[in-house]
Amino acid sequence: MSPAATSPRRQRQDGRQPQAAQQADPAPQPTMISLASPEEWRKLLGEREPTPVQAKAIPELLAGRDVIATARTGSGKTLAFLIPAAARGIGVTGKTRGMAPEVLIVSPTRELAVQIRDVARELGMTAGRITGGITPAATTREASNKGVVSGTPGRLKDLIGKGELSLAHVRYVVLDEADELLSLGFLKDVEWIVNQARAQARGGEIQVALASATFPEEVRGVAARVLRNPVRIDIEPPRTAEAAPLKAGEVVAAGEGRAEHVARDTTRDEVLEHAAAEIREALREPGGCVVVFCRTKALTKRRAEKLGQLLPHEEVVPLEGNMDQRKRERVMDKLRDGTARVLVATDIAGRGIDLPEVRLVIHADVATTSEDHVHRSGRTARAGRGGRNLVFIIPEQRQRWAQVRRGLPAHLHPPKTAQEHLIDKDIQEKQGRGSGNGVDPVRSGSGRSGGGRDGGQRGGSGQRSQGQGRGGPRGGRR
Ligand SMILES: Nc1ncnc2c1ncn2[C@@H]1O[C@H](COP(=O)(O)OP(=O)(O)OP(=O)(O)O)[C@@H](O)[C@H]1O
Ligand SMILES: [Mg+2]
Repeated sequence: MSPAATSPRRQRQDGRQPQAAQQADPAPQPTMISLASPEEWRKLLGEREPTPVQAKAIPELLAGRDVIATARTGSGKTLAFLIPAAARGIGVTGKTRGMAPEVLIVSPTRELAVQIRDVARELGMTAGRITGGITPAATTREASNKGVVSGTPGRLKDLIGKGELSLAHVRYVVLDEADELLSLGFLKDVEWIVNQARAQARGGEIQVALASATFPEEVRGVAARVLRNPVRIDIEPPRTAEAAPLKAGEVVAAGEGRAEHVARDTTRDEVLEHAAAEIREALREPGGCVVVFCRTKALTKRRAEKLGQLLPHEEVVPLEGNMDQRKRERVMDKLRDGTARVLVATDIAGRGIDLPEVRLVIHADVATTSEDHVHRSGRTARAGRGGRNLVFIIPEQRQRWAQVRRGLPAHLHPPKTAQEHLIDKDIQEKQGRGSGNGVDPVRSGSGRSGGGRDGGQRGGSGQRSQGQGRGGPRGGRR
């Protein structure tokens, strides 16, 4: 049996033994599976077959190259970047008594940093996290004498700057959700951290791996600044013929699953009742869970309360950036052990979070960018499973949805709603009459078709707007 198959995280997913919320987790580490050589890395997957991104990225990383890996949500990128370290014995033992890891993993949210720490432990690595929301004493306990440190940019930078986190032993650096980390909100800190790793590393060159499900062209340029002659691995989504949606919970081969994508016209007043009906249906069978995404922290809080009233038999939990850290960790534990089956969250839960069998994702508000939509949607249909991805479109958000839709890859497009068809017809008629000024009312940021408060916040259209809008307002909303 592989360490992954017997890990505490898997046991919690199976509904046994929830772990209490923890500030610093002194859990015993599983022992490293012994490999005669790094080429035997497949043993670290246990019985599982490598997913396409694992099959391509792991050999390149084992050969010491820098890698940018782009592959769909839920396709196993975490093991794709952790196994090359574990297989070479990097990050398995802590070298010194202080905070001086061999492996440094940077990710955009606390929840993701904790999750990656736990996957590293499942592989037999010694791992701690450095994130906001925990005390300096707890941080020291967590991250001292560990081979792997998994953290968020702000707190990592803080501790490196103070000299408390030494990068002298670092050999391997990972930027997970790299396009987010290399966008405006994080870029300065992340670049500084990688440069510090290069400057401090006593062993000479460090290896850098970047992973994400999305990697817009403008961020690829920035990536060149933190990588050395990288190998680019882009795993294409499967062709449409193979991509018929699976039922929620149905499982095919390893790796990415297939979701059914649906969009529905509704109104602001009716969103929650429709959501509640969908959730009831999705959770009819035992197990599984549902994630509901909202645009702001205040909406998240309010809707979690209301959904709790509409679903008296379910524990509905919120996750947003204003919550106390203990509460945030308790929420994640409850979802992992099955106590709670409904999560209402900001985009804080949009990237990387791997919850057991998410049967349904609901966009109660349309995402701000196409990339945010891709990541939110990817919380369901992971690792070969099926799932349902449902976008509620209210009149005030129609214009934003039109922009988001334009930036989506083909396999994530839901069939058009009645309102979308009407708008299309309207545009065609206007174009046919030739009465317009050449400006497409949906495409232009100032269009009339339901712009409202939520429309066109970031201006521009499709992928381009995502680059412009990155960074700034995010911290506040989440
Ligand atoms: N080879 C494999 N076979 C089957 N399942 C796998 C395999 N590798 C990883 N998994 C499982 O797939 C799930 C998704 O993996 P992971 O979180 O690494 O996806 P990801 O590609 O990082 O997704 P995201 O882009 O959303 O971050 C996890 O539960 C993981 O345990
Ligand atoms: Mg991931």
